[in-house]
Amino acid sequence: MTLEEIAAAKAAATAEISAAKTPAEVENARIKYVGRNGLLPAMMKGLRDVAPADKPAFGQALNALRTAVEAALEERKAATAGGTGPCEAFDFSMPGNWRGTGSIHPVSEVIEETTRIFAQLGFTVEDGPDIETEFNNFDALNTAKHHPSRDERDTFWLGPELLLRTQTSPVQIRAMLARKPPVRIINPGRCYRRDTTDATHAANFHQIEGLYVDVKPVSLADLKSTLSHFARKMMGDSVNVRFRPHFFPFTEPSVEVDFSCHVCKGKGCAVCKQSGWIEVMGAGIVDTRVFEKVGYDPECFGYAFGMGVERIAMIKHGVTDLRLLYANDLRYLREFL
Ligand code: DAH
Repeated sequence: MTLEEIAAAKAAATAEISAAKTPAEVENARIKYVGRNGLLPAMMKGLRDVAPADKPAFGQALNALRTAVEAALEERKAATAGGTGPCEAFDFSMPGNWRGTGSIHPVSEVIEETTRIFAQLGFTVEDGPDIETEFNNFDALNTAKHHPSRDERDTFWLGPELLLRTQTSPVQIRAMLARKPPVRIINPGRCYRRDTTDATHAANFHQIEGLYVDVKPVSLADLKSTLSHFARKMMGDSVNVRFRPHFFPFTEPSVEVDFSCHVCKGKGCAVCKQSGWIEVMGAGIVDTRVFEKVGYDPECFGYAFGMGVERIAMIKHGVTDLRLLYANDLRYLREFL
């Protein structure tokens, strides 16, 4: 090693470092010159072999080399980093990463739309817990002690008098226990039944409950006109609505409500099982025995209804298998974007 070699190394190193254009190039130069196996440590080791009389001059030259290299590295590091220096660190013309746009799940969409339609009619949203008492879910709804729906094969029991609600109807009871009439509420929520999952059944599904109670007369005609209005807002003006006599323990008279099939417009198709109609909800005039259970005057008037959210989502979108709504398959859910 000679003093000339050290001077040449200094010139070469500072020139190379000054030419570095990106942080990666600066880092490569740093490794090459001052890294553990770089040129400078190697030259420092060479100092051992220099004659003692020449050591001070060589030491000085090597120190000057180190200072020059480090200063050049610092300068280039600052210059190539993003922000203050030239913009090599960022290439603004590069396409960005597409992160995807979210969309509203069909079930949430039906809940939001239904809530909006009934809010315009003066209904407020009521909430209730998924874990219910036997009283709210069955007894207060006038369900017989030995009604099959109470069976362990149908209901998820959590304790002697505690269960996962099988319907949103217990929220009617909660609302009436909490307030005096008039009560005009809607309640969307999860329900649970020991159903084997298939194209139209799930152990966990959603319902939207509605209840209107007043001290002045409320009739089946009011119920029919309200639900027909809802049907048209939800499915479009061309929908037909059919009310069939039925039985529910908590309403008398009771009806089941069908919408004309949205997919075939009532002609008959796979979605409506060729009937042209799809059952969407149960409804009726609140039974006086329910009023008695919540301490209301049995002379009150009221109607109630409970609809299947997945049902409506399926007919709105022509979905034939309910499981598709919950498979979390993005390829499928993207179709609702
Ligand atoms: N809870 C009933 C069910 O799950 C649906 C229902 C029927 C709700 C009639 C009501 C009603 O409020 O009045 O099948």
